[in-house]
Amino acid sequence: MTGSHKRTIEAGYDRVADQYLSTKDPEDPLTLAALEDMSHVLPENAAVLDLGCGAGVPVTRWLARRGYIVTGVDVSARQLELARRYVLEATFIRSDMTELAFEPETFDAVVAFHSIIHVPRKEHPALLADIHSWLKPGGTFLAILTVTDFEGEDSNWEGWGAAMRWSHHDAETNRSMLRETGFELRYAEPRTNPGTGGSDETWLWVEARKPN
Ligand SMILES: C[S@@+](CC[C@H](N)C(=O)[O-])C[C@H]1O[C@@H](n2cnc3c(N)ncnc32)[C@H](O)[C@@H]1O
Repeated sequence: MTGSHKRTIEAGYDRVADQYLSTKDPEDPLTLAALEDMSHVLPENAAVLDLGCGAGVPVTRWLARRGYIVTGVDVSARQLELARRYVLEATFIRSDMTELAFEPETFDAVVAFHSIIHVPRKEHPALLADIHSWLKPGGTFLAILTVTDFEGEDSNWEGWGAAMRWSHHDAETNRSMLRETGFELRYAEPRTNPGTGGSDETWLWVEARKPN
């Protein structure tokens, strides 16, 4: 990401991290069901990377409690401070996810919930290629992507006093990009649940597999 885009995301989440966390349902049924469903194909002690892990609740925490070896990555220092408080069992790295360098075939699963939506969309193909490369053959990519095409900034997101940027594609473009990267789609479908603003939001829920 460019310096200014990265600074907006970083400063924005440093500012809203606590409020954002207060909007999260730690028992969100769709989230827990998707994680449970993925766990059926993961080995015990699976190595799992959580991109844009935020404060780690509920996703990173669920993965760590399941016994997986979890690495959470986030660009926001405040988000990671919260994550280290709520998820003692995981390792956390402060980094822009587009600048990570893991060895090929390091992870059994990569998850990214509501985070790739902040990465400039022209960088999505390269990021998906990295994710594909970091996965072991047969590995799983579980993500919440978008159903709408949008690129822009809000100077006062949710009235929380922070600017935020989003950059993402519609559902069909996301599906095409995933297939072009080499993923097999187990599902990539719109699902609706309560959003941070309280009203329902529809997102593209994705479970994709790197072929063996
Ligand atoms: C909407 S929050 C989601 C947090 C968490 N995954 C969840 O579902 O609660 C998006 C998170 O992605 C992080 N993020 C956005 N762009 C990032 C990037 N390029 N690299 C690393 N983290 C990023 C933000 O700092 C923020 O913590």
